Amino acid sequence: MEKVKNISFIGFMGCGKSTLAQALAQDLDRVFLDSDALIAAKWGREVGEIFRDFGEEFFRKEEQKMADFFATLQGVSIATGGGFINVKNLDKIGFCVYLRADFDFLKARLSEGERAKRPLFYDEKKARNLYHARLDSYEKSANLILDIENQSVESLLDALKREI
Ligand code: S3P
Repeated sequence: MEKVKNISFIGFMGCGKSTLAQALAQDLDRVFLDSDALIAAKWGREVGEIFRDFGEEFFRKEEQKMADFFATLQGVSIATGGGFINVKNLDKIGFCVYLRADFDFLKARLSEGERAKRPLFYDEKKARNLYHARLDSYEKSANLILDIENQSVESLLDALKREI
């Protein structure tokens, strides 16, 4: 049987990784997995609670375990967390799509409630610095970059499907 690559979505908080990964899974009839949601389910806590109770380093180790698991799969549409680009085997997971947008666009898109759920978006100045520190890695890790500002989910899906 032909090997069907996984598609993984990367990018900063608020860029729509989960929305697009889910939409792609529905469109292509693939399995949809969300790294943050799987980690949260394992521990029975929200990601913010995991950061608070166990610390960021613990969360990053859980992300690495997810990455090792994803690398064993085929044909799955995968949403990652914003810091997932630091796992050591991202390139082994599959075709990597970076959803790119300016920091201010992402900030405006996330409601206060959505920002409150994200421990690393809590302090805006720190979040902005983190965004700039990661830009290069997002671009270098990507097999495809989609500029998401003012694009509908449908148009992004169409653009993506032309490339995979
Ligand atoms: C993080 C992004 C979050 C989540 C955690 C850490 C980050 O995911 O994994 O709060 O380091 O950028 P989203 O990108 O889905 O918000």
